Amino acid sequence: MKDDTILAHSGRAPLRVGAPVNMPVHRASTILSPTLDAFEANERGDSMFKNVCYGALGTDNAFALCDAVNRLEQGAGSMVTSSGLAACTLSVLAFVGAGDHVLMPDSVYGPQRMFCETILRRYGVETTFYDPRIGSGIEILIKANTRVVYTEAPGSQTFEMQDIPAIVKAAHAHGAVVIIDNTWASPLYFKPLTLGVDICIEAATKFISGHSDLVMGIITARTHELYKQMRAFCVQMGEIASPDDCYMALRGLRTMRVRMDAQYASALELARWLEKRPEVKQVLYPPLESDPGHALWARDFTGGGALFSVVLDKMPRKAVSAMIDGYRFFGIGASWGGYDSLVELCHPDRSALDRIPPVWNGDNCTLVRYAIGLEDIEDLKQDLEDGFARMASALS
Ligand SMILES: Cc1ncc(COP(=O)(O)O)c(C=O)c1O
Repeated sequence: MKDDTILAHSGRAPLRVGAPVNMPVHRASTILSPTLDAFEANERGDSMFKNVCYGALGTDNAFALCDAVNRLEQGAGSMVTSSGLAACTLSVLAFVGAGDHVLMPDSVYGPQRMFCETILRRYGVETTFYDPRIGSGIEILIKANTRVVYTEAPGSQTFEMQDIPAIVKAAHAHGAVVIIDNTWASPLYFKPLTLGVDICIEAATKFISGHSDLVMGIITARTHELYKQMRAFCVQMGEIASPDDCYMALRGLRTMRVRMDAQYASALELARWLEKRPEVKQVLYPPLESDPGHALWARDFTGGGALFSVVLDKMPRKAVSAMIDGYRFFGIGASWGGYDSLVELCHPDRSALDRIPPVWNGDNCTLVRYAIGLEDIEDLKQDLEDGFARMASALS
């Protein structure tokens, strides 16, 4: 089955007379069995992987969503988590113990960095943050106790691309598990498991749900063994997402292709327009030919998440506020991947910027991140143009 057919047909309710197209919401903690034998048989063996036997292990809605996403990722099995961040943290925790070492890109999603610096450290796991553009050079950072090489392509806020196949090759040569946060591209534009990545994370909060109305993560494993280990860990940690949220995420998935293609087309056009503006020093967006990561993106990806950053001269707060506060269509708020455009002022971690040879010149620049929605592109362009005019008058 091709991706667009998976989007439309997988995870559906079984066909019977009177069945709705969409899997109804199965809200449940207790799942009843007619006999003791049937109850115990259901709980035995592979129950946590496929049988509906207790709400905390998932009802039909979670299994339906996981089936659809797993097919898109071309994995061996998927599981839902309570948030995208939970998927990021649990996927690392599932493979490490005290005394182990983890490699994490310097450009990683901020809260994941914080998790390494606080919780992982407290549990005796050491993290080395590496330049995301390191490629096969990662080999020299791998130690005997390195269990996980974590990746995120492109990086949050600063959008560095990573050479995933080169990193996989080096990590696997040393027996380390490779994890990727694939939220920006989604399984429609990048399939990391087919390149040997072991665990793939999607913050379903973003493009999969697509409507800014739920919080969820989805983890998919490359092999059955990895799936069993990861899923057992999530079950033991009590990780699940509600049936209602799974229903909504599956509903979002149905239209993900049309939403993402439209948002990507608008994002690329706006990024091209922005990079020609006199106010803009650089647009950080790998699908742009001018982006330093463009060649890697073109080699491995088939499209781009509708999220990019714009580098401006260092602006006084009042000029930035004048620009951002007055936007009509770019909402000010966290998250992205919904149908509505958003804007955020970025404050990348200083220690990250110190380590990365600057893609943008930290202290001399202002970094603004835009998520592009489904609005008319001319309206968005006008909104951005008006914002630059407000910024200029605040400066004069
Ligand atoms: C790249 C990336 N990964 C993970 C997350 C975490 O997702 P959630 O907000 O569902 O916890 C985010 C959230 O912004 C993100 O941008």
